[in-house]
Amino acid sequence: MYQDRHIAVVGAGLVGSGWAIVFARGGHEVCVFDENERIRASLRDTVAAQLRDLASHGLVDDVDSILARIHVCDTLADAVTDAFYVQESVLEREDVKKNISQAIAEHLAADAVVGSSTSGIPGSAFTADTPSRERYLVVHPVNPPYLVPVVELVPAPWTSTESVERAMALMNEVGQAPVLVRREIEGFILNRLQGVLLREAWALFEEGYASAEDIDKTVRDGLGLRWSFMGPFETIDLNAPGGIRDYAERLGPLYHSIAASRTELQPWSTDLIARAEEARRDVLPADELAVRRGWRDRRLMALAAHKAKQAAGGQPDESH
Ligand SMILES: NC(=O)c1ccc[n+]([C@@H]2O[C@H](COP(=O)([O-])OP(=O)(O)OC[C@H]3O[C@@H](n4cnc5c(N)ncnc54)[C@H](O)[C@@H]3O)[C@@H](O)[C@H]2O)c1
Repeated sequence: MYQDRHIAVVGAGLVGSGWAIVFARGGHEVCVFDENERIRASLRDTVAAQLRDLASHGLVDDVDSILARIHVCDTLADAVTDAFYVQESVLEREDVKKNISQAIAEHLAADAVVGSSTSGIPGSAFTADTPSRERYLVVHPVNPPYLVPVVELVPAPWTSTESVERAMALMNEVGQAPVLVRREIEGFILNRLQGVLLREAWALFEEGYASAEDIDKTVRDGLGLRWSFMGPFETIDLNAPGGIRDYAERLGPLYHSIAASRTELQPWSTDLIARAEEARRDVLPADELAVRRGWRDRRLMALAAHKAKQAAGGQPDESH
């Protein structure tokens, strides 16, 4: 039934084009619409280049058939009509999200669900007046979604349980790792966790406890190694002989004291940002940023390939 119908991707910039790969790689026909003609004209080349990169890391093996499932549409109506799911990835502005949500509703099939890629605007801010608003929710990816599988599903107060379940089932089916945010909160889960780490990193740097490079090293060569395959709760459960309770009893007071020492919140000052920028530019000149981004993406692909191999060939107990 749903599987016989296509998925619509609305907005085909960085994130939308990545979603097209996710859905087509998952075996779905995908109809993509972007209001920018230039983006529409170059979409297939953009996606083909990304797919070739993925293939060179063993992450996909059928570039041509994936590409053949991606269709560029000239109108929103062509893309959305008859789709069973719509992934909206347009500009991150409340008024733009509001207008596109309403425009999508005009062509939406009676059973279709709409996910918005918004990074931080709660769905309730832009779908309140949308017809069929019970079928709209936030489906927030990490860029690029075909390499980083986590996706945050955030229902608005009026999103139906069935719509959430349908989006969840689809994300699982196409190989993403969906997380349910039970109710709306600024920054959802991922950026709130990242925000806490960043707050402390900036503060330690500002107060001169360590260089920016050494703070990065602490994550890169320390905390981050475990974080590519387990989260904070599992980490502490394994880091005390008696598990999480033991850990909480031993180290709870330390973490409470650390948290209590950070109650004075200041915005990152211009001076502080300039110092951090200087520290970063010493390590990486501005004209090498793009090259380093390419390096990051290749490292991510190698890591994704490694994780896929572990999941496919590892012992059952290796994944736990
Ligand atoms: N870039 C990221 O790292 C990232 C990560 C997660 C989520 N997001 C979210 O994804 C969404 C898209 O971000 P992006 O980085 O791909 O931006 P982008 O600027 O690369 O792409 C946005 C695209 O939307 C198109 N567009 C704008 N209005 C439109 C309309 N009315 N109809 C059709 N197309 C329209 C634009 O032409 C553009 O191609 C935003 O909500 C953003 O917050 C971005």
